[in-house]
Amino acid sequence: MKPEKLAIHGGPKAKTVPYGTGMRFGKEELAQLEEALNQNTLFYWSGRSDKVVSFTKKFAEMYGMPYCVPTSSGTASLHVALGALGIGPGDEVITSPITDAGTYIGILFQQAIPVFADLDPHTYNMTAETIAARITPRTKAMIVVHLAGNPCDMDPIMELARKHNIKVIEDCAQSYNCYYKGRLVGTIGDIGCFSTNDFKHISTGDGGMVLTGDEDLYRRAFGFADKNYTRLRDKPLGRAAELLAPNYRMTELQGAVGLAQLDKLNDITEKRNKWGDGLTAGISDLPGIHPHLVEEGNKSSYWFYMFRVDPDELGCSRDEFVEALVAEGLPASPGYIPQCVYRIPMFVNQTAYTKTNLPFVSEHYDGVADYSEGLCPEAEQILLDAIRLPVNEFFTEQDLEETIAGIRKVWAWYHGNK
Ligand SMILES: Cc1ncc(COP(=O)(O)O)c(C=O)c1O
Repeated sequence: MKPEKLAIHGGPKAKTVPYGTGMRFGKEELAQLEEALNQNTLFYWSGRSDKVVSFTKKFAEMYGMPYCVPTSSGTASLHVALGALGIGPGDEVITSPITDAGTYIGILFQQAIPVFADLDPHTYNMTAETIAARITPRTKAMIVVHLAGNPCDMDPIMELARKHNIKVIEDCAQSYNCYYKGRLVGTIGDIGCFSTNDFKHISTGDGGMVLTGDEDLYRRAFGFADKNYTRLRDKPLGRAAELLAPNYRMTELQGAVGLAQLDKLNDITEKRNKWGDGLTAGISDLPGIHPHLVEEGNKSSYWFYMFRVDPDELGCSRDEFVEALVAEGLPASPGYIPQCVYRIPMFVNQTAYTKTNLPFVSEHYDGVADYSEGLCPEAEQILLDAIRLPVNEFFTEQDLEETIAGIRKVWAWYHGNK
């Protein structure tokens, strides 16, 4: 059969109607906000306020965890986790090279050294093997990033961490309601960190959550998010901090919106899961296309969908394929972030702060921080041959069918004309 004429060559578009959209905020958020304002205080811990306390409690309950600390962002949550674990100058923290800056910002503020581990070629996650290759006597913690709603392979990672006495922080900013072998990610390591910034599955504008099962860690995390004051209600307020900590408090406005958003979370993640798995089912037979791999027994909530292409098998470059998809009406884009995070100037020049090379060069650090090109070859290659598609809970069945049809049509043309 002759391949259909592509839209980029003047043919009809595969996508015939605009992608589904909808309002993520409604009367539920408004009612909560009104209640928050009627408290006559927006401070999260005044004793008269309830929204942040309730949001935090509900979040912990949904995750089946005893302790939860509210924060002002995902970046703050990760910094709080590091602070609670006592990460400090010269400590190495292993993390992912394909992530948001929020993952490593806290490491640098604690004067610790981010160390980047390579990724699995198809889940785009760190693995026990790639992490093991980076462990040194200085390694104190790892921040495993469950990228795009897809769980890391946590059993071997936890085994490795316990063997080397390394603390595990889970970066779940992109991973709500994601299951690793039936367990929710964010509840498996020592601490789980979440973001409720406006781009995430649920939004409070900005905000974050820290989950832990350890009471001592909880107390330290709570303090670290609030100037290291003693503010838990079982003790008198104490302002005599022994260690430096920022103010990462959540306000009642965020708590109010968060409470209403949590009621919508399960529906949002179910819809995204179905959409992403449906896309995989629709394109996995195409030679030259490698779908976004979710390992068997796991469940992804697809913050985005990213597949890889093999240009030789496909008969065109990654960028040509993206251009053709866009012409078909698909919101495709090449790769994710422009480069692995260790290639940004701050790392390459080792200039996180002005006037100094701290923490990379320091009396507390006897290692050599390596941020050279080729450090994580698989991660670098992923960014060169991956194609990303947004996923949204408002996308429809027709959107799914037409997205699959668009990819298959472009594939058929290039593959058929090789
Ligand atoms: C993987 C990951 N970690 C951390 C963050 C930081 O979250 P926030 O923007 O809420 O500070 C983000 C946000 O994009 C993220 O995607």
